[in-house]
Amino acid sequence: MQTTATQAPPPPPPPPHLKYLQEEVEELKGEGKHLLPSLPRGVGWICNHLYQYQGFWYTARKLLGAINCQGHFKAQDTDLLLVTNPKSGTTWLKAIAFAIVNRKRYSFSHHPLLTTNPHELVPFLEIKLYVDDHVPDLATFTSPRLFSTHLPYLSLPDSVKHSKCKVVFLCRDPKDTFISLWHFTSKLRTSGQEPISLEEAFHRFCRGVSLYGPFWDHVLGYWNESQERPDRVCFFKYEEMKEQPAVHIRRLAKFLGYPFSPEEEEEGTVEEIFRLCSFDTLSNLDVNKNGKMESGEEYRTFFRRGVVGDWVNYLTPEMVDEFNRITDQKLGGSGLTF
Ligand code: A3P
Repeated sequence: MQTTATQAPPPPPPPPHLKYLQEEVEELKGEGKHLLPSLPRGVGWICNHLYQYQGFWYTARKLLGAINCQGHFKAQDTDLLLVTNPKSGTTWLKAIAFAIVNRKRYSFSHHPLLTTNPHELVPFLEIKLYVDDHVPDLATFTSPRLFSTHLPYLSLPDSVKHSKCKVVFLCRDPKDTFISLWHFTSKLRTSGQEPISLEEAFHRFCRGVSLYGPFWDHVLGYWNESQERPDRVCFFKYEEMKEQPAVHIRRLAKFLGYPFSPEEEEEGTVEEIFRLCSFDTLSNLDVNKNGKMESGEEYRTFFRRGVVGDWVNYLTPEMVDEFNRITDQKLGGSGLTF
């Protein structure tokens, strides 16, 4: 008698709203698609794969967005570009920069940040505007145009490097960035995907195979540029902003070309901006508790704890030693420390 082997049921498909999970290369669009098979490929944290391009790791969709952006984005001298490594406080920086630049347009009691997530107010270039082969018409953006990106300095569109547009870079201690990334990834992986253990994620992060990694090379590119051209690239640290928010909000406003007047100082505008953009205010807004991005991520996944030093609750002494070793090796002599 013949027996039929029972087959395990196929894993459930990812929820249709999570576009970034469906990175079947055949379905992606973009001029750079032909490059994908020739690029080094690593294991992805949420999507199946990451691809190495110009020394850094991307999901296929983000990489095609990056190549599209490199080819088509024309920076203007008045543009302001916010840059971060993922999970370094991008959402916070977007909120603060938007509030600074637009403070004459909106009152703090009826502010767009109260009803709109910062990622919608300051769009990502390669993840939003130039993704899926779009070439957006940016003429509708009022000056100064405020954009964001996770692209490494080396891979910024040439027009950004050659224009006078201002670049703000916010970095965060790699240990906290890593823990934040691990939590974020764990939340976004679906029930059909095995969880990534902290140990496995740690090894990938340390090897540099993480989104826009290697982390250290990414920050060093902007750090060096901020040292050479401080009028063009301004470097901020999450930890310093948490410690002295008013000092750094003023520094950011000055760099962006929107310094606070004595009257504004008198009226407490800096403190208003700090309060509006604080973790407590933003994370408790209805929009950020219940809304989600077009690509499916719930806004609330961008707000976890928002503290400095949460890594102590997760990393073993050996992991900390390894982080310190890599930091010394990669950043030693640069003047950048954590
Ligand atoms: P944690 O996971 O450590 O809490 P990004 O915006 O780059 O994705 O980074 C997310 C990290 O920034 C998360 O860190 C999140 O909690 C924190 N964050 C979000 N909004 C913040 C805010 N207004 N102030 C300080 N930290 C904030």
